Amino acid sequence: MATPRMAAAAPALRTLNEFAADVVVGLSHPGQKELPSKYLYDTVGSGLFDVICTLPEYGLSRAGMRMLERYSGEIIDQVPGPVMVAELGSGSGQQTRWVLEALARRQRVNYYPIDISRSALFRCQQELGQMDMVSIVGFERAYLDGLQEVATRRSGGERLLVLFLGSTIGNFDRFAGDQFLREVRTILQKDDALLLTTDLEKPIPTLIFAYDDPAGVTAAFNKNLLARINRELDGDFDLGHFKHVVCYDESERRIEMHLQSTIWQRVTIRKAGFRFYMREGETIWTESSHKYNPAEVAEMGERAGYKCAGQWFDHEWPLAQNLFFAV
Ligand code: AVI
Repeated sequence: MATPRMAAAAPALRTLNEFAADVVVGLSHPGQKELPSKYLYDTVGSGLFDVICTLPEYGLSRAGMRMLERYSGEIIDQVPGPVMVAELGSGSGQQTRWVLEALARRQRVNYYPIDISRSALFRCQQELGQMDMVSIVGFERAYLDGLQEVATRRSGGERLLVLFLGSTIGNFDRFAGDQFLREVRTILQKDDALLLTTDLEKPIPTLIFAYDDPAGVTAAFNKNLLARINRELDGDFDLGHFKHVVCYDESERRIEMHLQSTIWQRVTIRKAGFRFYMREGETIWTESSHKYNPAEVAEMGERAGYKCAGQWFDHEWPLAQNLFFAV
């Protein structure tokens, strides 16, 4: 396997301590217990997510791929060069390939994937490492820290194109999503570009099936968060006593994933020095996935300091690719 070129790695102990601290905070919440969804993506979780993307019920990734295959040329034509590319979350790299290919038809491309997961960066390097005219340097960082470092590599006259694909913005709550776009904007210069994917509203049963598939892959993805706590923080979650539960909140227009305790139970997480109890029926909220309408996405960008230069849609699985310029 090719070794990815990588900026200095984040210290492992700090990462583990942060994980332990976030777990304790989330599971101590009065009322609703929560765990941050970013922890779903360890090596096992990322592998399960790749399988989710192949499920017939989960059309989001296929739609994103279809659209970038079809429209990357058109999108890139709207972003005059020279351009360097940063991606927030390197994912599997499959969707990014179309964008990089379109850009590589007119220039040499420096591509900087940013991801807290080293294994995700590895997979991205495997997928895209052999592309002609494209060089890759991965940043094992949180999105904004990584983007800040990438921005310092800009050479005169170069425009930065930031990719935030796959509707990952939907996993932030709406206020945090706005705030995040603003923070990205503070790192950008005027006329830099942002390509943002957003999943659109669709019938509720379609959404429920997408996040509670009959083969149980999404259930395994969700439960792996507890398995990860067991592995990394020496927890004693009994996965047999948790159920994957999915609901759609119509007022917030979001899918919620929960893990529901099927009995009264006590859980100990030794490396965090933490013990807590769960009632029968009580849930841990592990992920939200917000759904949008096209006009609100344009407004969201405008509130954060961008102008919307174009929106492209998939009609089989309603999804939008939104191109913004920093103003
Ligand atoms: C990564 N993210 C956009 C996915 C989503 O659809 O919100 C995560 C996911 N969770 C369950 N299935 C997919």
